[in-house]
Amino acid sequence: MSAPNKNYDPVAVSSLSPGEVSRMLDEALAAVAQAGSLEELRAARIAHAGDRSPLALARAEIGALPPEARAEAGRRVSAAQTQLKDALSRRQAELEADRDQRVLVTEAVDVTLPGDRTPPGALHPVTLLADRLSDVFVAMGYEVAEGPEVEAEWYNFDALNIPPDHPAREMQDTLFVAPSSGPGSAGGPGLPSQGSSGLVLRTHTSPVQIRSMLTRPLPLYVVSPGRCYRNEALDATHLPVFYQIEGLAVDEGLTMADLRGAIQAFVDAMFGAGLRTRLRPDYFPFTEPSGDVSMECHVCRGASTDPGADPCRVCRSQGWIEIAGCGMVNPRVLVACGIDPDRYSGFAFGLGIERALMVGHDLTDIRETVDGDVRFSRAFGMEI
Ligand code: PHE
Repeated sequence: MSAPNKNYDPVAVSSLSPGEVSRMLDEALAAVAQAGSLEELRAARIAHAGDRSPLALARAEIGALPPEARAEAGRRVSAAQTQLKDALSRRQAELEADRDQRVLVTEAVDVTLPGDRTPPGALHPVTLLADRLSDVFVAMGYEVAEGPEVEAEWYNFDALNIPPDHPAREMQDTLFVAPSSGPGSAGGPGLPSQGSSGLVLRTHTSPVQIRSMLTRPLPLYVVSPGRCYRNEALDATHLPVFYQIEGLAVDEGLTMADLRGAIQAFVDAMFGAGLRTRLRPDYFPFTEPSGDVSMECHVCRGASTDPGADPCRVCRSQGWIEIAGCGMVNPRVLVACGIDPDRYSGFAFGLGIERALMVGHDLTDIRETVDGDVRFSRAFGMEI
């Protein structure tokens, strides 16, 4: 074992001199005081109190001192390290308190703020009415039938006794589907002519009558709600895309009395019992005879027609409101569907759902039904 270093060389162990130790301590305390975050404090702790910190390195030099100098130097370094440790833990406590305070503020939940609610969706009033009208007939034993919106001309016109040159085809102002760009069809009897796709956007729900008669067993009671298309400009009273609902009954011995009964039941269900209905002659190629259906005005009940009475805007003081077309199924239509017109007869009626909605709720602009403004829908209740 070597003899203790009697020749104390102050240069070799200058790091243990009182001035140097207090300088290292000041530097360490300054770093602690400057640490603005727990991260920075961690770095200061490693730099000034870690194994490789100046104070730790100085402590390692104690052994190089002469024995009589060691105790004093040891106390000096220990005192500095204790002071630094206290400073570190005080600063740690301060920074943690700061952080907790910040978290309380930034992560605070104000339970009194209004909730961020997504209102539930609901059915459109037109859909609601279509469902309600269908229900009226389903309750009377009808089935709901549906068909395609892109329809073969044959179902939309020909089978309904509307031949190619019939003015009704123009009357309907049809949207025809463009032929595909492949080689045109050769045409021929019953086939679309060259340059035509043979397809239209259905102009009414009546082709569903044909589809039902061709596919369902007799007797037949169906109701068909659905979307229809016509080549109309959108204005206050016309929609190019609209909804109809149509009823069809085919059975033995059906007469116009049955038709009247069905229509009356329908008006009763929609507007409440007690409103009279009337039929006036009209013309549809697929029904014979045909009629238009009016119901007594549900607002003035005809009172506006009295001399000197207040005018009624719902029926324009007519006392009656036209709501549907109807008639006895034309025997030619029955024959087109392979039904014996000597044994069976039928009746049919059809109406526009948006128009029925307008009549029922005194609306003056049909465009409100397609604007998509939720305020309009809300007024009808938000049924899902
Ligand atoms: N399809 C007719 C229309 O669109 C309505 C109708 C249906 C008329 C059934 C009579 C019978 O105008």
